[in-house]
Amino acid sequence: MIQFKYIDRHNFFEVIHLQVTDEQKSFVASNVFSLAQAKAFPECVCLGIYFENLLVGFTMYCLDVDDKEYWIYRLMIDARYQSKGYGRAAMEKLIDRIKQDQNHEVIYLSFEPDNRQAMKLYEKLGFSPDGRVIDGEVVYKLTYG
Ligand SMILES: CC(C)(COP(=O)(O)OP(=O)(O)OC[C@H]1O[C@@H](n2cnc3c(N)ncnc32)[C@H](O)[C@@H]1OP(=O)(O)O)[C@@H](O)C(=O)NCCC(=O)NCCS
Repeated sequence: MIQFKYIDRHNFFEVIHLQVTDEQKSFVASNVFSLAQAKAFPECVCLGIYFENLLVGFTMYCLDVDDKEYWIYRLMIDARYQSKGYGRAAMEKLIDRIKQDQNHEVIYLSFEPDNRQAMKLYEKLGFSPDGRVIDGEVVYKLTYG
């Protein structure tokens, strides 16, 4: 079962050592960058992704201060643990978590257009193109509620 844990002194070093493959490095910021970003942007929530107490990945979502909507800004599964269903399970759990806030009804995310793996995953979860391209990234949305 997938679980989320906040990042603190107990898992910080393990989280910053998680890595994607070399080919995927341009698709996602490093976890240390995301943690620094969340310090400056406190509306961003960073979570370690665990499978049965094994740290397998990292995600960060934010209630964006400009559009006041939820954005999943980061998702990564360590290269050792990819293609085992953890990314999809983590996304399902994260979507459920965001949906608890019934004052909102849409989740946004964006990705590099050549990130086919991420695109397939998001489309399977029900995300569809929003029509926007921001900083070269395709914006997708999932409407709920
Ligand atoms: C994208 C990512 C999070 C997916 O996590 P994952 O745990 O490997 O994915 P899953 O095993 O849950 O698979 C989910 C879907 O992704 C796709 N997928 C997974 N591995 C794949 C591969 N090797 N090639 C192509 N598609 C793949 C499939 O559509 C899969 O669905 P299926 O199992 O029903 O076929 C992971 O590959 C990753 O961390 N990539 C680098 C960082 C990144 O690009 N993050 C997204 C930035 S927006």
